[in-house]
Amino acid sequence: MRKPIIAGNWKMNLNAQESVALVTGLKRELAGVTDVEIAVCPPATLLTAVGSAIAGSNIALGAQNMYTQDSGAFTGEISPLMLLDAGCTYVILGHSERRQYFNETDAFINEKAKKALSHGLIPIICVGETLEQREAGITADVVSTQVKGCVAGLSADEMKKCVIAYEPVWAIGTGKTATTKQAQEVHAMIRSLLKKIFSDNVAQAVRIQYGGSVKPDNVSELMAQEDIDGALVGGASLKVDSFAKIVKFNG
Ligand code: PGA
Repeated sequence: MRKPIIAGNWKMNLNAQESVALVTGLKRELAGVTDVEIAVCPPATLLTAVGSAIAGSNIALGAQNMYTQDSGAFTGEISPLMLLDAGCTYVILGHSERRQYFNETDAFINEKAKKALSHGLIPIICVGETLEQREAGITADVVSTQVKGCVAGLSADEMKKCVIAYEPVWAIGTGKTATTKQAQEVHAMIRSLLKKIFSDNVAQAVRIQYGGSVKPDNVSELMAQEDIDGALVGGASLKVDSFAKIVKFNG
């Protein structure tokens, strides 16, 4: 049985005061939740403050990115050791905004995933097609190429620890959610690809999140799909009420 994982990707939003207020509210609303893994992923400058505010709660900390090296002359970058030091359990890797605006490639994301795993951080590896690619009928090809590239060379044990987030680029921040059928189709395709690359055992263990305009009113239907094991939530993770409702998708 895969335990659902719902993570809030705050992107480049909120200040220290707002972020602590948000997680204080989430702690209150979500205190009794044990059947879902919950994570918040604030900007790097807020990791420590948010980490302290959620210490001892059922909410875990994640980062939105990291570099491939432990330390050194890499101005502006943040190492996996720094994320651990701040209390992170998860790190989002290869978000479509990083691919689009910062030219991140599958090979680079793969390098980051290996590094994160070597330090015990759990990568949330993002994949997803653009609208143009979907309309050209190449969604499966695009997403399989991304998955293959991002998980290349991982051991079965490493793969089992990873979370994959399927986020159709055209559904991110647009209010357009993929239909549950469209999402389930790609999730099932990813799982069968993992079976081919690794084994059925690995494929059954990996959690695949859906992301792209997830809201309180569409989360339950998405989560009811066989291969959807969680959500990566952007806009709706910035408010206590909406994120708490999403986490409590099953009532
Ligand atoms: P959204 O973002 O929920 O605002 O569409 C999701 C994401 O980019 O992770």
